Amino acid sequence: MDSFSTVIRTASQKQHTEAETSTFMADLLGGRLGVDAYARYTEQLWFVYEALETGIEQLADDPVAGPFVRPELFRLPALERDLAHLRGPDWRAGLRALPATRAYAARVRECAERWPAGYVAHHYTRYLGDLSGGQVIRDKAERTWGFTRRGDGVRFYVFDEIPNPAAFKRHYRELLDGFRADELERQRVVTECKRAFELNTAVFRALGEEFPLSA
Ligand code: HEM
Repeated sequence: MDSFSTVIRTASQKQHTEAETSTFMADLLGGRLGVDAYARYTEQLWFVYEALETGIEQLADDPVAGPFVRPELFRLPALERDLAHLRGPDWRAGLRALPATRAYAARVRECAERWPAGYVAHHYTRYLGDLSGGQVIRDKAERTWGFTRRGDGVRFYVFDEIPNPAAFKRHYRELLDGFRADELERQRVVTECKRAFELNTAVFRALGEEFPLSA
């Protein structure tokens, strides 16, 4: 039988490809969008991480979600520095969640409050992705818009306290493999994971509509 980390990974592969190849992501990675689109995307991430990380101390003792809640992953302070760089000191005043972002953040918050295992699905989808493909995005952003390497503007993608991402991911997968639940609950978590990807894709879709290429 496949390990739970493998089950999740395999089950969400199709959704991963969809997110990865969305028009907005492809345009962003293709260097075809202005820094304004990148800033707008970073703003949307702020709402998602606000939901993932604010008030999350209450989950630290939870037997299911607790082991995943690790301060070295927290992204909100880095996002806030990036936004101050991208939008200026008044960045908070201009912060607007797209409806798709609002829906995504609401679902994360709902899981955090009522269903710790569902929260894990969202946690996995974001943080493991940030540690993986996020590095591709950082590299591209540095080259396209000239941010200082690993500096302001791309701090969201820099995990200062995780010196060895590969080892961290290995350990993370072991945590997933140790996830104790019956088959039905496991299936529900896999479904939530797919949903998490789809919520991301919906945000990309909305961003793609906001930043269409004039070509
Ligand atoms: C263009 C954008 C993206 C690129 C280039 C990309 C690339 C990658 C790569 C190369 C890996 C494999 C890393 C490894 O095996 O250790 C990976 C894993 C992952 N990505 Fe992405 N990705 C992108 C977008 C996304 C998005 C939007 C999400 C979800 C929000 C996401 C979530 C994940 C997750 C959860 C994993 C871990 C899979 C696992 O090992 O269980 N990725 N990504």
